[in-house]
Amino acid sequence: MFKEGLLKGKRILITGGGTGLGKEIAAKYLELGAELWLCGRRGAVLESAAKELVAGRGGVVRTHPVDIRDAAAVDAMVQRIWDESGPLTGLVNNAAGNFISPTKDLTPNGFNAIANTVFHGTFYVTHAVGKRWIAGGLPGSVLTIVVTWVHTGSPYVVPSAMSKAGLHVMTKSLAVEWGRHGIRLNAIAPGPFPTEGAAKRLRPGGGFEDTTHLNPMRRIGRMEELQNLASFLMADGCEWLTGETIALDGAGYLASGSGAYFTQLDKLSDADWEGMRALIKAQNDKDRAGRSA
Ligand code: HXC
Repeated sequence: MFKEGLLKGKRILITGGGTGLGKEIAAKYLELGAELWLCGRRGAVLESAAKELVAGRGGVVRTHPVDIRDAAAVDAMVQRIWDESGPLTGLVNNAAGNFISPTKDLTPNGFNAIANTVFHGTFYVTHAVGKRWIAGGLPGSVLTIVVTWVHTGSPYVVPSAMSKAGLHVMTKSLAVEWGRHGIRLNAIAPGPFPTEGAAKRLRPGGGFEDTTHLNPMRRIGRMEELQNLASFLMADGCEWLTGETIALDGAGYLASGSGAYFTQLDKLSDADWEGMRALIKAQNDKDRAGRSA
């Protein structure tokens, strides 16, 4: 779809870049010639992702373990990037956290675990990068991964829905505030693009009704579609496109009325929820054991 070297000279930080959608986007950017920084909480996961990415394609992938909930650590990371290898040209806000839960059962900590990462953490990274672009008189492109429930809301993932909706508004607000500096911000709102991290927390046990037949295109997303749109938004040639959240979902949310993703979970019993909480906890415990930040 793109000419070779489309992203040559681009230097892009991808948060949560060691796994899931972040790693998929990294693979495509690398193939198109970009130089990459990946950050995330698990140093070993980042390093093995970087090795794997470079082994297939060559190029430069650097890693930095960081928890984006920590504003000072984020600022130090971005300063280190500037000091060691010069200014970034792009930022992909991909890192996120989520799990399904009846909202009445959430503790303040449970809410914060998601909101601190998605809402606060994404702002910290965008701010740390954006203020350096402005100070240096440099243009830049920010791509934030949100989800179609920024338009519809969604039950059982309320901290995520609230936080992602905040990022949708951040995208619009900063596109206006920073447009005169040549900084643009866009977001992609993907429909279902299955990844391990999401499946283990949004479909624990896997036994939910498949709703693919309700999508106008009767299918889920293909990873290359996400990779291609993410590349287009980092490439030169369409800089006037800013402040937009682009749904990539086969018109799924438009077709589904209220669009609310997890309405089918109304059927679950307290015992079902208990079982799923245990499965999500096992996944969280496993991930935490691998963290270095
Ligand atoms: C209720 C839960 C819970 C659950 C955790 N908590 N899981 N509460 N039900 N299933 C509560 C805990 O009890 C605790 O509160 C608090 O949350 C913090 O839990 P920790 O496990 O200590 O948190 P932490 O280790 O910081 O992990 C953060 C996390 C985790 C968000 C909970 O899931 C994570 O690291 N996720 C990152 C990857 C991820 O989520 N990927 C999916 C992204 S999908 P108490 O009060 O007990 O201390 C996405 C949108 C996809 O973003 C859209 C698809 C269409």
